Amino acid sequence: MRIRPFAAPDISRLVDITIESFRPFFDDYVHPLLGDELFQYQHGHWKDDYRRDIPTLHAPAAGRHLAVAEVDDSISGFVSWKVGARPDYGQIYLLAVLGGHRRRHLGRALCEHATSEMRADGVSVVGIGTGDDVFHAPARAFDESLGFTKIPTAAYLRTL
Ligand SMILES: CC(C)(COP(=O)(O)OP(=O)(O)OC[C@H]1O[C@@H](n2cnc3c(N)ncnc32)[C@H](O)[C@@H]1OP(=O)(O)O)[C@@H](O)C(=O)NCCC(=O)NCCS
Repeated sequence: MRIRPFAAPDISRLVDITIESFRPFFDDYVHPLLGDELFQYQHGHWKDDYRRDIPTLHAPAAGRHLAVAEVDDSISGFVSWKVGARPDYGQIYLLAVLGGHRRRHLGRALCEHATSEMRADGVSVVGIGTGDDVFHAPARAFDESLGFTKIPTAAYLRTL
């Protein structure tokens, strides 16, 4: 496994990994939870949202960075991080490892790469966001394994 910087031809692979990784979250968890109307309002175009957003995550001059993890010359995961929104602060924004490659420390290597790059950019505090749902249980265990402190939050939505 090796971590390398993002290159422009990687985009379609990163979109595919993201959609494959988060499909169970949207289809099996969020949609039944919210019902059709709220789901359509909030996440009705979630795949297109990723197709639009992921190409914007590589803009180093604006503090947006990507790195990928390769196994046998094929991208198996990636991390996106952002710096500069607040002084000394960085955020791990998006992280995904393909199902067949999990629990092999790719995620950890990606985040260690991101935090090392952030430290070099003068960052002293790092945030990472995830969900408090069943799908994100591995992500919470992962975040806690890296030493992040959980901040409990709650968000609500209703139709009028
Ligand atoms: C979260 C995610 C990126 C972790 O990637 P990964 O490469 O499997 O994680 P690692 O192998 O580096 O795990 C490092 C440590 O995190 C913890 N951990 C990771 N997955 C875990 C799981 N399913 N259950 C319990 N602990 C877990 C463990 O402490 C693990 O160390 P260990 O294997 O030596 O016990 C991966 O599960 C994923 O892509 N999930 C779907 C997308 C997602 O939730 N992204 C992040 C939040 S938005």
